[in-house]
Amino acid sequence: MAYRKLESLNEKGYLILKDHEGPAPAPEEWTSLEYIDWKSGGDTNFAPLASAFGDLECHGFWDHGKADKDGMWTSNSELTPTIKAWVENVGANFGRVRVIQLNPSTEEEARRHIHQDDNNRLNPDGEGWVVRAWLELDAPEGSKFILRDEKDDAESEQLIPLYPGRQLIIDTERMWHVVHNPGPAPRHALIASFETSDALDAWVESQRV
Ligand SMILES: [Fe+2]
Repeated sequence: MAYRKLESLNEKGYLILKDHEGPAPAPEEWTSLEYIDWKSGGDTNFAPLASAFGDLECHGFWDHGKADKDGMWTSNSELTPTIKAWVENVGANFGRVRVIQLNPSTEEEARRHIHQDDNNRLNPDGEGWVVRAWLELDAPEGSKFILRDEKDDAESEQLIPLYPGRQLIIDTERMWHVVHNPGPAPRHALIASFETSDALDAWVESQRV
């Protein structure tokens, strides 16, 4: 058995999707949330919208004996109706759903945090591979995703400029990745884990550029 994967991610490991259509979430949808000091990919704080059992905590679902799916909404999610609706509209099984707050840094410092995610721990073989989707909420000018196939392979590097409304889907267990925010303000983005399924495939196709 092998995991079911998204054919659309086979070639590059990521896709830049259409910009978000419809009303943009109001800034209160990310400024009013409860953030937790949790370092991942730089100087970060995270506001959990869905966690393993609905608590305001950032631990991997594996710490609770679960794969990164069947996420449960937290109290934060009540403060973010547009963002919650965005996740539900995808229609696929979701796991961790969080708003990341990434503080500014130099590019050199950001690059020190390039990493792969652990999305499929405890995910049974034969089920859908867990990948991650982004909706950028705000991003200082010059913010960018840095992606690589191999950590030390500069030739494989892809740079993706970030701005509010940008949507991405990335197999972050395959791709090395980090975001550089040059500042001066923090950058906020929604990050959601989704299990590969017909529903996720259909959503990605509906969002292709
Ligand atoms: Fe990551």
